[in-house]
Amino acid sequence: MVEATLKGQVGVVTGAGSAYGIGRSIVLAAAKSGAKVVYACDISSSYFADLQETVKATGCDTIVECHVFDISSEEQTLILIQHILKNYGRLDFYFANAGFVIYRGLNDLSVSQFERAMAVMQTGTFLALKYGSQAMSVTSSDKPVPKGNIVVTSSCATLSGAFADMAYTTAKNGCNGLVRSGSVQLSSSNIRVNAVAPGPVATSLMSTSRLAEEGVEYKLEKTVEEIQKRSARIFEGFGIGEEQEYYYNRCSAPEEIANVAIFLASDLASAMNGQIVVADNGKTVAATGEAFTGPVPPINQFKL
Ligand SMILES: NC(=O)c1ccc[n+]([C@@H]2O[C@H](COP(=O)([O-])OP(=O)(O)OC[C@H]3O[C@@H](n4cnc5c(N)ncnc54)[C@H](O)[C@@H]3O)[C@@H](O)[C@H]2O)c1
Repeated sequence: MVEATLKGQVGVVTGAGSAYGIGRSIVLAAAKSGAKVVYACDISSSYFADLQETVKATGCDTIVECHVFDISSEEQTLILIQHILKNYGRLDFYFANAGFVIYRGLNDLSVSQFERAMAVMQTGTFLALKYGSQAMSVTSSDKPVPKGNIVVTSSCATLSGAFADMAYTTAKNGCNGLVRSGSVQLSSSNIRVNAVAPGPVATSLMSTSRLAEEGVEYKLEKTVEEIQKRSARIFEGFGIGEEQEYYYNRCSAPEEIANVAIFLASDLASAMNGQIVVADNGKTVAATGEAFTGPVPPINQFKL
């Protein structure tokens, strides 16, 4: 059986610099899956040292290279790719994960805020596809044939107009288009392109978003615990939390989303290409909850 392994591979994870997030979890999961080198990238370097120490403490010998860059910049993306190829001669996976939410209604959403969301999430994903794929096509004695996997973090906000603001919802729908089109454009290059579309995940997102929107490196002073608590409180306000009666009202942990992302990047998912894999605990298919069905009781136990 094929394993969900990234053994010996070199790759990138963007949005990996927060205290507690999907990118950080992907770095840890990639290390556990045998990756040789992971470039943990972010606009903020606040938690890079902590991430490196955490990976080391797991006993994995993965090299975690930390790299500050803004994913919306073509120039900075090229610098990253050149750095990887000069130092390691190959690129195998690229998790285009960085993003932010705005949470402003249409009345308060400015053109510059809308454009920044498109620049980061759409142009950033486009740059990952364009230059990431070119780097994945570089061969050597170590990597005799072109091969690679690009996994984009989309959102369940692409399936409904009610999960986020207009800019975020639009930007993530653009990401889905890039995934589908990218999978065709790269179909003769042995590179697969897929996305994971999470539902609510308890992460640093609410703390990092306003700062990331500025497009400059920032520092966060809060502890991981403070950030986790804040995120959980916000989701509870939306009626979503781990203690909810219905599975679809769960809030995922970032590690759960990382598991799906690693699976998509591994040969275990070799039949999957151009797919948007929704990982939202069934929230979007539950749509109106129990409004139409009435309260859904637990299923009866099978009686022998
Ligand atoms: N948390 C959720 O409920 C949820 C749900 C669906 C999708 N997502 C998506 O998951 C991804 C990861 O978010 P998270 O929830 O782990 O939050 P997070 O705050 O932990 O991680 C996002 C990271 O992206 C970085 N970032 C933002 N703009 C950047 C830029 N221009 N260049 C480089 N780095 C940048 C931030 O600094 C931050 O560290 C995002 O794309 C987000 O939209 C999150």
